[in-house]
Amino acid sequence: MKLVLLGPPGAGKGTQSVVLAKTYNIPHISTGDILRESVKSAQPLGLKAKSFMDKGELVPDEVVTGIVVERLKNDDTKKGYILDGFPRTLKQAEELDLALNKAASTIDMVIYFATSPAVAIERLSGRRVCKSCGFNYHIKNIPPKKEGVCDKCGGTLFQRPDDTEATVRNRLKVYEDQTKPLIDFYIKKGSLKRVSGDMGVDELFKVLSKIFSDAKLA
Ligand code: AP5
Ligand code: MG
Repeated sequence: MKLVLLGPPGAGKGTQSVVLAKTYNIPHISTGDILRESVKSAQPLGLKAKSFMDKGELVPDEVVTGIVVERLKNDDTKKGYILDGFPRTLKQAEELDLALNKAASTIDMVIYFATSPAVAIERLSGRRVCKSCGFNYHIKNIPPKKEGVCDKCGGTLFQRPDDTEATVRNRLKVYEDQTKPLIDFYIKKGSLKRVSGDMGVDELFKVLSKIFSDAKLA
């Protein structure tokens, strides 16, 4: 099951990826998470990426593509994987195709989470992330049992620096300009499935599970 999750910021890609990765026992590869980890540990990659991420701009294609192509060489990707937040430009999609062709591999399905900007903005402004384990909450939709504290590990919850209103608006614009063209790219390839990202977490998971079983991917 080799999947790409495509959709605007706040569509729920990361939230569904966590559940899907656990259910199907495949790795969740989020370029956003990899980049944030590099920023946190002050690696050269992180220092380069931070200024782009803080503004809600995309990190240069060659940087991100290199990370993913290397990650896909790991043995744990043999039985499948979820690419969350990659590719995000036509250039990235073409480079991914080239790398997969070389490895005689292909993406099985691209899931497009169609989500309205109003829903995306509401979700991102309410998102809280655990500093220790990275689990995502939402102050209204998916609240922790105790405010500001992670249910899973007791860690402190914080707001992502790029979840401020101005940066969210820019991320949505960047998505419209640079990532949305990928919808047509994958429709032409015949690999795109559209779902509504506006559904609740459990409802959407059920829809996805049915899509995978109908397509005999699971
Ligand atoms: P990245 O981390 O990928 O951020 P993003 O695409 O902006 O997406 P988000 O993580 O904000 O949204 P999501 O769809 O994962 O939603 P989530 O599940 O968290 O990228 C960050 C930055 O890194 C980019 O701006 C860029 O600079 C750089 N970058 C990353 N990849 C790159 C690439 N390929 N090329 C270049 N640069 C790259 O949900 C959001 C909130 O809603 C949460 O609070 C959650 O609890 C809640 N929620 C989720 N689902 C539901 C639901 N169904 N119902 C109700 N609430 C829900
Ligand atoms: Mg995410």
